[in-house]
Amino acid sequence: MSIDEKLSKLEQLRAETEQGGGEERLKAQHARGKLSARERLNLLLDEGSFVELDRFVTHRSTDFGLAERKVLGDGVVTGYGAIHGRLVYVFSQDFTVLGGSLSEAHAEKIVKVQELALKNGAPIIGLNDSGGARIQEGVVSLGGYAEIFLRNTLASGVIPQISLVLGPCAGGAVYSPAITDFVYMVRGSSYMFVTGPNVVKAVTHEDVDMEGLGGADVHASKSGVAHFASDSEFECLTKVREIFQFIPQNNQELPPAGQGSKTEDVRNDDLLGVVPDNPNQPYDMHDVIRHILDEKVFYEVHSDFARNILVGFGHLGGHSVGVVANQPSVLAGVLDIDSSDKAARFVRFCDAFNIPLVVLEDVPGFLPGVAQEHGGIIRHGAKLLFAFAEATVPKVTVITRKAYGGAYDVMNSKHIRGDVNLAWPQAEIAVMGPKGAVEILFRKEIEASDDIEAATETRVSEYREKFANPYIAAARGYVDDVIDPRDTRSRLISSLDMLRDKRDQNPTKKHGNIPL
Ligand code: HXC
Repeated sequence: MSIDEKLSKLEQLRAETEQGGGEERLKAQHARGKLSARERLNLLLDEGSFVELDRFVTHRSTDFGLAERKVLGDGVVTGYGAIHGRLVYVFSQDFTVLGGSLSEAHAEKIVKVQELALKNGAPIIGLNDSGGARIQEGVVSLGGYAEIFLRNTLASGVIPQISLVLGPCAGGAVYSPAITDFVYMVRGSSYMFVTGPNVVKAVTHEDVDMEGLGGADVHASKSGVAHFASDSEFECLTKVREIFQFIPQNNQELPPAGQGSKTEDVRNDDLLGVVPDNPNQPYDMHDVIRHILDEKVFYEVHSDFARNILVGFGHLGGHSVGVVANQPSVLAGVLDIDSSDKAARFVRFCDAFNIPLVVLEDVPGFLPGVAQEHGGIIRHGAKLLFAFAEATVPKVTVITRKAYGGAYDVMNSKHIRGDVNLAWPQAEIAVMGPKGAVEILFRKEIEASDDIEAATETRVSEYREKFANPYIAAARGYVDDVIDPRDTRSRLISSLDMLRDKRDQNPTKKHGNIPL
């Protein structure tokens, strides 16, 4: 065969690898509002940057007629490319080939890019669209999954791992995304569950459809398994590209700097009006976050889950930061089981990847109640405490209003290595709110008085005057300064500049034992 003939054969084979499961199945995929594995990669990666690996791999099964159903690539497109010019590794499952099911060969392709990503210190993005373990391959495909889970675990905290769930994701297949750092889903076409609606019906007699059991909204708002829910694949892929403005390539690198902004020294009068005079009136902490961050851009994570705490990324004077903020407009910003879990995981991501933490605090305490106690608020709240305490990245806190009880300690207080702790003049830092404290300290006196309301009010004012202010904490150095709210942005930027070269470490250990 001449070289020309060989090249022509190569061309023909390469073209074949792009066909996936054929025209009909691709049409069905499009009819469901889903893109093909390659179309997705084209939207995700910088134009022309994708380089494919292992396009000629096929499965080795012969059972159940599979000997005649070999498709080049075996249902997953793998390789590397760039996002904003930076290297990323990718795998994209092709549902048109045997339902994107995972065979031994398919798993080996994914493991290869996982290992390259780890070795070369670059993020990996998995586009999942698969019917799970390839049934015809039995235990071999289960083993394939376990190989992937192992690499996910070993890479955790070393390189960012991102999962897109763009189709059904059943059984053990949900556990690879679950180990990764961020999970993106699309409403109406992506699903995650351990067992599908039919099994649920058979076992528990509950009637539920795919969307109701494991759709994007369920996981983004109820279970917290997904961090982002989008209305279309295009929106989802665009959103994934955006996160790369804030996260580094690996745990040895600093996160990418933003453009910075020339407004660091300008006082922001809008911040004066955010906290209402009445300490019991709610306000939206998003308003504070937007006024503080560069270009008012907040990349919010888990926006629909545990809305009483806000977490997400932004830039502050060019520094990439992770923001953790109590949200007074939802449940008064109280800490509960879900908000503790949400914030703890985010804090650990930021700490693993050298992203400084900016904490905005307005928290009346932990949520009381039987459901919370029996659900393990002690165990879950301890996760957040542990996460903040062990974090060694620059950590800055601004107390905008309430910092009561254990929540004061937890929300990156000075005592657990907060580097810079600032308070607004409205800050109330105490063991508990005035009303609760007065009822405990002066119960007998108030009960004995003729005018209970007036007696309570007198003691509440006295307590508020004495304890519900930032100056006792400031007198101890627990807060470094009480600042004019209008100067918050400039003080935060100055703090982050000052902490740029911070070095801190934890005692040598195999790993801690975070209360899971
Ligand atoms: C082999 C599979 C497959 C699988 C789907 N297909 N799932 N082939 N192994 N797991 C094939 C179908 O035979 C079909 O082939 C094509 O993919 C499309 O599937 P359909 O059923 O026609 O599509 P749809 O109606 O959209 O339903 C999609 C689906 C359903 C919901 C994913 O196929 C399904 O329930 N599949 C099985 C899911 C499952 O239980 N997987 C195992 C989970 S356990 P043709 O030839 O018609 O194109 C697991 C263990 C992991 O994953 C281990 C970790 C511990």
